[in-house]
Amino acid sequence: MKVAIYPGSFDPITNGHLDIIHRASKVFDKVIVSILVNPEKKGLFSIDKRVELIKKVTKDCENVEVDSFQGLLVNFMNKKESKVIIKGLRTVSDFEYEFKMALMNNKLDSSIETVFMMANAKYSYVSSSSVKEVAMFGGSIEGLVPKEIIPDIKKQVSNK
Ligand code: PNS
Repeated sequence: MKVAIYPGSFDPITNGHLDIIHRASKVFDKVIVSILVNPEKKGLFSIDKRVELIKKVTKDCENVEVDSFQGLLVNFMNKKESKVIIKGLRTVSDFEYEFKMALMNNKLDSSIETVFMMANAKYSYVSSSSVKEVAMFGGSIEGLVPKEIIPDIKKQVSNK
């Protein structure tokens, strides 16, 4: 069984992320969306809430799971018996960052491959941080994130 890990912060999940999840779920037997627990960085949403939001928007994808991890991604992948990291690429600057990360992960465990998927052009400018900024200043985030989670984002930014 080909298990792929789609790692990230997902704070919050965007339509760009969801598009990659849908496409990866057609290529691999199982996709585990894996949220990095970073105790140094306080996000907009708690890890549990991020898991809940991703589960909500992927409930119809039978071969998609959601989990979280702390520490090195390659260690988590060994636990999950996965050898493939999925990453979305939007821009050349993404490439530079992701290229280094892919090489580091491969150095840590040479049996691990990173597979890049080009972001859908529709979402190539969308990031979790820009969504948060727009929402924080009262702009519309429609079309940028799954519509079921818009109320959660609005509520959370209004509490900050
Ligand atoms: O959505 P993000 O914040 O760009 O995701 C980054 C993430 C979580 C994929 C990356 O920071 C990561 O894998 N962190 C785990 C620590 C690790 O394994 N580092 C070694 C590779 S540089």
